[in-house]
Amino acid sequence: MNDAQTFAVEVIGIEQVTPLIKHFTLAPPGGGTLPAFSGGSHIIVVMQGAGRVHRNPYSLLSAPHALESYEIGVRRMEESRGGSHFMHDTVRIGSRLEIAHPVNLFGLDKIARKHLLIAGGIGITPFLAHLEDLRAAAVPYELHYSVRSPEHAAFIERLRRLAGDQLRIYFDSEAQAIDFEALLTTQPLGTHVYVCGPAGMIKHVIATARSSGWPDSHIHWEQFSAPPVGDAFDAFLARSNVTVHVPPDRSLLESIEAAGVEVPYLCRGGVCGFCRTRVVDVDGELIHNDHFLSDADKDRGQSIMPCVSRARCRSLVLDL
Ligand code: FES
Repeated sequence: MNDAQTFAVEVIGIEQVTPLIKHFTLAPPGGGTLPAFSGGSHIIVVMQGAGRVHRNPYSLLSAPHALESYEIGVRRMEESRGGSHFMHDTVRIGSRLEIAHPVNLFGLDKIARKHLLIAGGIGITPFLAHLEDLRAAAVPYELHYSVRSPEHAAFIERLRRLAGDQLRIYFDSEAQAIDFEALLTTQPLGTHVYVCGPAGMIKHVIATARSSGWPDSHIHWEQFSAPPVGDAFDAFLARSNVTVHVPPDRSLLESIEAAGVEVPYLCRGGVCGFCRTRVVDVDGELIHNDHFLSDADKDRGQSIMPCVSRARCRSLVLDL
């Protein structure tokens, strides 16, 4: 995917739903409908910031059958490199944004006998779209939603309306916590578990499910990593014969794109594997921040996911 495959939308609604989360509604500028999507899909929003372009992934939370607009929730990230601040501080009703076509990396398994949905914080957004589909399906499900406190619980009324008794909410502030062990050891055969939220929660759910005998094919998770800041370094793109400088607050992928070299991507969050790039040579250390490469691949050091990973090195040569 590249920016040639993006299209324009207009911001027609902005609502502050918690102290940290804003809810945006995006529609085609001239009316009409947007491309179809399924529950669990995300879009990339392209933001023209001051002197740089941000491309951030956001899950679609609106109903997949309501295509006159898309809805996304954006959490203000304190350690943001600019994208979430741009959405919170610069975008207004009437602003135009470029977005990429929806891509689904977190769909519901079609042969599951039951769906167990677990969300933490802003991780609730993909499940809102799933709930629209689940309401019409005969497959049983439950949704467990953990948040810091009632004031940080986004989209509660909509969740209650869509999920009714299938929803359970846990507030950290009231010492309520999901009992993952109990939850994952009492599900009927054929259940699939889906988790989206903070990294620690995802890791814990995956580890608990595996140790309780769940096959990997029944464990689904989504975690878009924001590219972390790091030391500046240079990368030489061997086929393009270009050296790119990667500043501390810019990802390797963004730096390559700024030099006019295209790298395919879908998620920009270290999940899909589309941006996988061959490392020809590195004099130093690769800092892998993705969730795609196996530990063995990371140890071999022959590939890097430039959307989230970087290097601490004297030189890095890439097959681009
Ligand atoms: S674009 Fe998906 S892993 Fe890099």
